Amino acid sequence: MISIPKGTKDVLPADVYLWHHIEGKAREQAEAFGFREIRTPVFEHTELFARGVGDTTDIVNKEMYTFLDKGNRSITLRPEGTAGVARAFLENGLAGGAMPFKAYYLISAFRYERPQAGRLREFHQFGCELYGAAGAAADAEVISLADSFLRSLGLSRFELHINSIGCKTCRAAYHSALKEYFAPHLGEMCADCRMRYDKNPMRMLDCKEEGCKRFTAGAPRMLDFLCDDCRAHFEAVKDYLTQAGVAFSVDPSIVRGLDYYSRTVFEFTSAAAGAQGTVLGGGRYDTLLEQMGEKPVPAVGFAAGMERLLMVMAAEQVAVPPDRGVSCYLAGMDEPSRRQAFLLAAQLRRAGVSCEVDLMERSLKAQFKYADKRGARFVAVIGERELEEGAAEVKDMRNSSSERVKFQSLAQYINDKENGHE
Ligand code: HAM
Repeated sequence: MISIPKGTKDVLPADVYLWHHIEGKAREQAEAFGFREIRTPVFEHTELFARGVGDTTDIVNKEMYTFLDKGNRSITLRPEGTAGVARAFLENGLAGGAMPFKAYYLISAFRYERPQAGRLREFHQFGCELYGAAGAAADAEVISLADSFLRSLGLSRFELHINSIGCKTCRAAYHSALKEYFAPHLGEMCADCRMRYDKNPMRMLDCKEEGCKRFTAGAPRMLDFLCDDCRAHFEAVKDYLTQAGVAFSVDPSIVRGLDYYSRTVFEFTSAAAGAQGTVLGGGRYDTLLEQMGEKPVPAVGFAAGMERLLMVMAAEQVAVPPDRGVSCYLAGMDEPSRRQAFLLAAQLRRAGVSCEVDLMERSLKAQFKYADKRGARFVAVIGERELEEGAAEVKDMRNSSSERVKFQSLAQYINDKENGHE
């Protein structure tokens, strides 16, 4: 048997209701904030991510699924959603439309990482992007949406960490300070960090190597280098969040693993997620769209990892509405009854009642067992006598009560009961 590729997972029918639940909450919350869904391709030109996500990041350097297509174009499976949304926004001329532009997405993304709990090679994200608003209110709005989404899932044991990584202007001085700090240790740091030292020293702070981490702890902090504008922006974000009742703590060590950020960056973490503690991350990225297009378009957004949310929900034991099976199972006791059940099923479905019939020619007892497993609320039994009477014996599995119901009234009967009219 050919097995599933490493780092990927099947979502089986018995578990898919959990995904529908999270996706439903994501849509509900995003739409409550005025976001609409956007769908972009699973693959893009490699260049989009190399330039957008950044060529000093682990994602671009080590983790991309890149291949040449038959036309010899370099194609990459999206490692995240932001770059694709930015491209779609520019390419479709949406900058000329109503601002702010607000879009959300539910996507699969691909990173060639070392798989472990909460870290996969194909994973899923719920993301939101807001374009056109430069003020701190937009940052706070997006963070509030992230917070509402997590709360709507019933989660409570998470923390919001925010930081500012400044802008091009103030980062220049910071980079110099970092270089000065790291210079004496460079010989003991990994080859990636030596490359980052020249190209983008801030990325050294995000190194996962233990040998490098011991130096990063004492490194200068971006917060101490913010220019007046960036500082005022950060203060305003904090004010808005406080006003909105969103609890946060400032964590100067957050730099994020993607290069496009400026000013506000944030991460929601949960102890319940184990080693992969970050369930949601994002920030402002005011230069990405300008770099891809012509005009500057301020932007802010986030993405949450669905698999990590599932882990945290399980750990916090939050209640999820159970999988709803079909409304009615039609059990036939002999061949003619089975035929009648088959016919009735078609009528019920036309009337909007979900139902199943016996396709396995099982005994009545076995059919009841199956109906129970499938979570059917009603079992309508048809045998010789019922056929003669033109009525089924309908058992409500919730309270074990039974009633005789004419075939032609069955759909109405079930609909009324399901809709709480009776
Ligand atoms: P990111 O921090 O790379 O940001 O990913 C966001 C979330 O996706 C993470 O917090 C995590 O929950 C989940 N995630 C990332 N990699 C994996 C993986 N290998 N397996 C499972 N889950 C994973 C971004 O992707 C940005 N595009 C977010 C953003 C949107 N920033 C602005 N707009």
